Amino acid sequence: MCGIIGIVGRDGVSELLLEGLKRLEYRGYDSAGIATLVDGAIERRRAEGKLINLERRLAEAPLAGSIGIGHTRWATHGGPTEGNAHPHATDRVAVVHNGIIENYQALTAELTRKGHVFVTETDTEVVAHLITDYLQQGKAPVEACRLAFHRLEGAFALAILFAGEENLMVGTRRGTPLAVGYGDGAMYLASDAFAMAPLTNRLAYLEDGDWVVLTRNSAEIRAADDTPVERKIHVSNVSAALIGKAGHRHFMLKEIFEQPQVIGDTINAFVSASTGTIALPDLPFDPAKVPRLTIVACGTAYYVAMVAKYWFEQVARLPVEVDIGSEFRYRDTPFEKGGVAVFVSQSGETLDTLEALRHAKRAGQHIVSIVNVPESTIARESDRVLYTLAGPEIGVASTKAFTTQLTVMACLVLAFARARGTISHEREAELALALREVPARAAEVLRHDDAIQALASMVAESRDALYLGRGTAYPIALEGALKLKEISYIHAEGYAAGEMKHGPISLIDDGVPVIALAPSDALFEKVVSNIQEVAARSGRVLLISDADGVARLGGKVRWSIELPKVDPFVAPILHSLPVQLLAYHTAVAKGTDVDQPRNLAKSVTVE
Ligand code: F6R
Repeated sequence: MCGIIGIVGRDGVSELLLEGLKRLEYRGYDSAGIATLVDGAIERRRAEGKLINLERRLAEAPLAGSIGIGHTRWATHGGPTEGNAHPHATDRVAVVHNGIIENYQALTAELTRKGHVFVTETDTEVVAHLITDYLQQGKAPVEACRLAFHRLEGAFALAILFAGEENLMVGTRRGTPLAVGYGDGAMYLASDAFAMAPLTNRLAYLEDGDWVVLTRNSAEIRAADDTPVERKIHVSNVSAALIGKAGHRHFMLKEIFEQPQVIGDTINAFVSASTGTIALPDLPFDPAKVPRLTIVACGTAYYVAMVAKYWFEQVARLPVEVDIGSEFRYRDTPFEKGGVAVFVSQSGETLDTLEALRHAKRAGQHIVSIVNVPESTIARESDRVLYTLAGPEIGVASTKAFTTQLTVMACLVLAFARARGTISHEREAELALALREVPARAAEVLRHDDAIQALASMVAESRDALYLGRGTAYPIALEGALKLKEISYIHAEGYAAGEMKHGPISLIDDGVPVIALAPSDALFEKVVSNIQEVAARSGRVLLISDADGVARLGGKVRWSIELPKVDPFVAPILHSLPVQLLAYHTAVAKGTDVDQPRNLAKSVTVE
């Protein structure tokens, strides 16, 4: 989703802005631009497509200046053209924006009547004109912004530059994130800590509705009601090195191979070193008394919620409802008193999930979140945060965040089961051990990389693919299909294996690879029947199972990948890895942009 960077600094600001935009690329974008002040006048360079185009534009026509704003745009209102690229500007004001100005049409009509001329299809341009209008009425820049902010509706983060003001920048956030960076003789505004990583690690995250006035040496923050406020300055541990590719061809591959390490780090944070049992931070409620759990997330994180439903119901005997963020809050679901709502999000900024959280909070639910990005909005608005220690995830397709989310969820399930008395000490110890062994088993799974790469060339030639699973393998089938479609653009669907005969089996022919996820668990024999139904109709099946499963079914399928035998409880974590690798290698074989697939954004901050 759109990325913002602003710098009030020293000469040569356009190079720093461009570098900052490169660190924001991972969020997903389709055009980019920067604006600086040159002899007090606003100058812009913008380009369609990737940053290389903007870089070329800047090489042809360099931009001087010591103050400037930059933007990567993920198109919402208006196509990804140069004309619609940010910054948007009048002769007095330049603006970069992440989010949506919901009342832009009414404001545009009002300002058009006053003589303002609009030249783009965006909702953002109205912000530049609105502030300009207040300047034309004789207001000073800060006051003009204050008045304008009170008139804007929607979710937005903004950074604003003024002609003739070499030492002034104004920013604000409502709904979407914006952080202030404190440098030495320079101040920064950015969408996230990555953008500022080599510039400063001292950051204050603006709260919802905050706005800030920056000079080279100061940041004055005001709350939504315009009263001055202090926001805590954090020392970020995001370093530029952490967001390199470490010799891998793509971030996604690096992140897939980091999984043994980061799953291990995450387990260590939630397992007592002395007893080997789960030791979560105190929860602000008694799990034994929780009547019902609601788990909400979007996309890949939602499949974690689906796995968790099986786990909580089977192991902790707790009824669980799961939903996607964009549906949940409009469903008007009745909440039970004392209920707990869990929100799962890598970025901690997904607006659909965040709004669902606020909805559940208003309904008096205890809020727990599983989040990867510290200090993100979802983390800050939760009663308890359980962090995944995946480290920065840059590839748009989520991989290590997914498996660490599953890991945290497994720990939460065991903590609930213990508190509710639904698990024996022996079984708890067995499952905790199975979890602690996941990093080593995951490393074994990754050794199938070459074999999976070879299979990917076959998948790359297909137009469609199907993924099947039962029980906790069903959400992994959905995740496998999502991974494949989002980065290789091959149409893929995941199904509960037992559902095939109720309709989708008519899709089977020898051109459709069927990836069957079948750990040898209690449902295995049922899956065997489902796979045989597919094989009998010329379906080309790739079986992903353990030694027992491959021994039982290997002869009946076209290909198989043998995973280590583990307790079925942790099998979904391990089965995630081959489907990630299959999607990755298929995308590479097709030559798509693996880390920044078309149309996608990493952190989705619009509804
Ligand atoms: C897919 C993917 C997305 C995200 C979804 C939620 O690979 O990454 O489906 O899982 O947009 O994002 P977060 O977890 O940041 O809330």
